[in-house]
Amino acid sequence: MGSLGGAREHEAGLVEDLRQRFHATFGDGGGVRFFFCPGRVNLMGAHLDYNGGPVMPVALDRGTYLALRRRDDDRVLLAATLSGGTIEVGLAELPAVATGSWADYPLGVLRHLVHHGRALDARGNAGGLEVLYGGNLPIGAGLSSSASITVGTAFALLTAWQRPVDPLVAIRAALSGEREFVGVKCGIMDPYAVALARRGNLLWLDCRDASYEHLPLDPSAFEIAVVDSGVSRALARGHFNERVAQCSEAFERLRPAAPEARCLRDVPAEVVEAEAAALGPLLLKRARHVVSEVARTFAARDALLAGDASAFGALVSATHESLRDQYEVSTPELDAIVELARAWPGVLGARLTGAGFGGCAVVIARPGTGVGLADALARGFQARFGRMPAVYSFQSGGGPRELAA
Ligand code: GLA
Repeated sequence: MGSLGGAREHEAGLVEDLRQRFHATFGDGGGVRFFFCPGRVNLMGAHLDYNGGPVMPVALDRGTYLALRRRDDDRVLLAATLSGGTIEVGLAELPAVATGSWADYPLGVLRHLVHHGRALDARGNAGGLEVLYGGNLPIGAGLSSSASITVGTAFALLTAWQRPVDPLVAIRAALSGEREFVGVKCGIMDPYAVALARRGNLLWLDCRDASYEHLPLDPSAFEIAVVDSGVSRALARGHFNERVAQCSEAFERLRPAAPEARCLRDVPAEVVEAEAAALGPLLLKRARHVVSEVARTFAARDALLAGDASAFGALVSATHESLRDQYEVSTPELDAIVELARAWPGVLGARLTGAGFGGCAVVIARPGTGVGLADALARGFQARFGRMPAVYSFQSGGGPRELAA
């Protein structure tokens, strides 16, 4: 995978840069440890996680890098390379409500771990820390920078506190931080996708019961690129929560006609159509996206396992149409990227990825389609919007890990 443009920074350089900034922020001295946690791109199963459906995310080889040092008191100091200033809290006096800053993500995780008695190491030492966040993942672009930060924080803190590092503990801390503290009603996909990632594989996750398996990606079948529309999703939280609420309302209205169903994913497509009047036009569209996406995602799994990259790509493109017309989470920029990409020879499919309302599109292409496509996208996009989209190629990455200091 991955011949499209966009230089991949060398990890050693990123770590060295973080080390220097860490010392500039928190002072010199030893004891600094480094961690990485990936972002993810979801190939199929759009907006299915909170509807109990299957999803197919792949972890990226880009993500959050963090540098961390223990303190001998109970103060926690958080800083980020992309933001000025340091946030300081005591472990015994963590904020009860979100502060509206980037630090809400790590603070939400910290609160969860502290409340669950995981903040001190086995010898009862003080749990204070200095942490600097950096990385090479576009923020707010639909590549799960938030789960990369929350899972990475949980992983690094548990390691520093000499606690067992169980991915499920990290996932729970990440979900609690984002849902209960930050206030985004996100599904389970993102923390699972990054915490359980395995290089060279995608994660098949069934969000109804959180069962999962790793499915190998064949690099000779297709390459994956991500194109950033440059429209920030920062203001999209309200729209996302609104879609979650619409799906739960649709399920409530469908329930009498599908008594066996435990979530919207379980409702047969015929029942959705038969209940059109009960749903009304808006909820009918939302439910149509969900049930059709469930069918497409199972078909995509079959195509992947059969090595049928063309069929897989066609399903990816069909998902974009459903997200645009039924779920209504696309933007003119994302539609343009998808259209331009699909017109290029060798491209098998394209769709917006993540929640939508801006952020990135993902492109599935025959290996080697690369550079020409990046140029065509840049030219076509610039002609319409007067600026260049960022194009990233990537290798599928592994999960969170500590790096050699
Ligand atoms: C966001 C959420 C995920 C998922 C996707 C849409 O990224 O965080 O939980 O719902 O949108 O598939």
